[in-house]
Amino acid sequence: MRPKIVAGNWKMNNDLQQGRELAESIKALQGEIPEPVNVIVAPPFIHLADIGRTIADTRLKLAAQNCATEEKGAFTGEVSAEMVRSTGAQYVIIGHSERRSYYQETDQVVYQKIEQALRNDLFPIVCVGEKLEQREADQYFSVVAEQLEKSVFQLSAEDFGRIIIAYEPVWAIGTGKTATPDQAQQMHRFIREKIEENYSSKAANNTAILYGGSCKPSNAEDLFAQPDIDGGLIGGASLKSRDFIQISQSFTL
Ligand code: PGA
Repeated sequence: MRPKIVAGNWKMNNDLQQGRELAESIKALQGEIPEPVNVIVAPPFIHLADIGRTIADTRLKLAAQNCATEEKGAFTGEVSAEMVRSTGAQYVIIGHSERRSYYQETDQVVYQKIEQALRNDLFPIVCVGEKLEQREADQYFSVVAEQLEKSVFQLSAEDFGRIIIAYEPVWAIGTGKTATPDQAQQMHRFIREKIEENYSSKAANNTAILYGGSCKPSNAEDLFAQPDIDGGLIGGASLKSRDFIQISQSFTL
């Protein structure tokens, strides 16, 4: 069966001391995380190695929020997938909507980053999702299908087996406006059907599809109860250790 995952995307929040404190307080609560749930934290690049040491020998796993499209060399300011891996991180978030919209990341860029991640033994958490105007124009299925087709669906079946997908409707991110469990389930079902179409029913069954967008303790249970929702990519609520741990307890096990 596919894994249950709660991943905390810290975004550009917390200085080093505050990040350490957050990691320490999540670590102190880790005994409360239900056994089958995988909990991941994604601090900013510059804190990865440090937070990695803080959570070493715990059940918590480490993710980066991004990685470079290129392998190495003269790319000032970039951070390669290999560098991410060398900090002990096992996952990397790729194609978050904030990267797509503020840093002009196209599906092609997303694909290149996925390739780099896979080459360096990272599990890519690939984000897809429609904007508000696309939801209102009833284009959400076609938008997400295109994002998938131009990125993860270019992969071989073997490589696709390492992908985690995060459906994050852009209109729900940081807005307090969550997709209803039905809206989220409908899209997750659609994504799973597309995986089956492109690969196999086995691949569709085994791929974890996370929901992201104003997920918090008060709505996580209803979202995670949906048959095709395998967990969450959590922004704001991942910055409070209590809320974050409570979200990890929101699965029907
Ligand atoms: P949010 O962010 O939980 O603050 O809406 C989710 C995300 O962007 O991954």
